Amino acid sequence: MGQLYKIGTVRDLAPGEGKVIEVDRHEIALFNVEGTFYALNNICPHRGGPLGEGFLEEGIVTCPWHGWKFDVTTGVSPKNPRAQVASFPVKVEGEDIYVELPE
Ligand code: FES
Repeated sequence: MGQLYKIGTVRDLAPGEGKVIEVDRHEIALFNVEGTFYALNNICPHRGGPLGEGFLEEGIVTCPWHGWKFDVTTGVSPKNPRAQVASFPVKVEGEDIYVELPE
């Protein structure tokens, strides 16, 4: 079990959007896919691009630097399953969003 951090509210991020959030020593990419929230490590495994600033479409984020794609629900690339980023559990309580990060 990791540690739970409050990272905002559901009003902070519209459906179809993502953003970068710094939590403790982690950089998280938070995404809203039709009202469900997902969190990935923000750092693209290719060259370190900010996934939270990428284009989000149908649950797939495209890295803004060179176009690698990741399924935001799993962190795995739909094209190359060996390319993946860590995904973190997200909880919504009322309007508050929490992410669970490793200790
Ligand atoms: S840094 Fe993300 S695709 Fe290159």
